[in-house]
Amino acid sequence: MKRFGLNNVVDLRGRSARGGAGADVSGAVPPGPGGRRARHIVAFGGGKGGIGKSLVAANVGIALARAGNTVLLVDADLGGANLHTCLGVPQPSTSLSDFILRGVPLAEVAVPTPIERLTLVSGALDSLDAANPRAKVRAKLLDEFQSQDVDYLVLDLGAGTGLHTLDFFLLADHGVLVVLPEPTSVENTYRFLKASLFRRLQQLARELGVEKLAEPALGSRDSAMRTPADVVAHVRSADAAAADALAAALQAYRVKLVVNQVRAPADESVGPAVASAWKKFFGLDMDYLGGIPYDDAAWRAVRKRRALLVETPDCEAARQLSVVASRLAALDPRPGTP
Ligand SMILES: Nc1ncnc2c1ncn2[C@@H]1O[C@H](COP(=O)(O)OP(=O)(O)OP(=O)(O)O)[C@@H](O)[C@H]1O
Ligand SMILES: [Mg+2]
Repeated sequence: MKRFGLNNVVDLRGRSARGGAGADVSGAVPPGPGGRRARHIVAFGGGKGGIGKSLVAANVGIALARAGNTVLLVDADLGGANLHTCLGVPQPSTSLSDFILRGVPLAEVAVPTPIERLTLVSGALDSLDAANPRAKVRAKLLDEFQSQDVDYLVLDLGAGTGLHTLDFFLLADHGVLVVLPEPTSVENTYRFLKASLFRRLQQLARELGVEKLAEPALGSRDSAMRTPADVVAHVRSADAAAADALAAALQAYRVKLVVNQVRAPADESVGPAVASAWKKFFGLDMDYLGGIPYDDAAWRAVRKRRALLVETPDCEAARQLSVVASRLAALDPRPGTP
């Protein structure tokens, strides 16, 4: 039997009004206290550092803004913020720390960028407290993200599987994992997927009132967990209706994938391969949004502190980033597509 070890605890505060990472469990989850105003939330993660999460988040954000959407890009990499550089703007004097430490509303923390309709909340740089927010602060952040009045809230996540990173990912309508065609990156992707699924299962079990029942099947902080089907079967032994609801909500947990730094045609196959392994072992669908070529223009743009879609909009990486943005937007009902 396939098992995986995970190490997170549940905290449901600030759950998305519409589920997360593509989940649509409308009705099962009450809206956050602030009420949801962000039309679509997209989070870019990947578990591993240095794989292009920020580059992809910044440029997909630009493509969405150019297509007519209002976009708020948030540097949610609480320990290693640098999204402003990928976006080609100087370090703003305000940052997420102002919200985390002093409660300044995000709308006041956000700064305009040279791209029309695109604003930026720069990452927290100055405090360990801000880098490791406790449950209460995480909940406040989740509520604040949801209450932004924009077409797209785009979150650039840090590396690793910290609780705030998982919660930001699960809050999103579209949780997008960036993966490199390298074994280390693929390994970290699976690790992130399992950790996020574990947390999602815990959230759903709590929402459905079967937390205690699901607990033995989910395992605890240091123990292994069975597949989602095993957890559903365990719940079914005592509560068939809850098991049906859990199974249905799980099917809505639909992660998206982007392969970055594609250098050879075979590299692209990593996307469909990860998706089919995910389906085989965990029974869940995944959407592959496409590959972005390795392109010298990409690192050159970062070195010049310029956004790729601004600096070299016609290069192949820029084109493919726009394609990814179009595919994401196509998953949503309008407001706009690149
Ligand atoms: N498609 C690409 N082609 C060439 N170089 C790339 C590409 N994507 C990313 N890079 C290079 O990789 C570097 C790291 O990218 P980025 O900062 O976006 O990664 P990250 O995953 O956000 O890292 P961190 O985990 O540190 O936040 C970029 O500065 C750029 O030099
Ligand atoms: Mg980054």
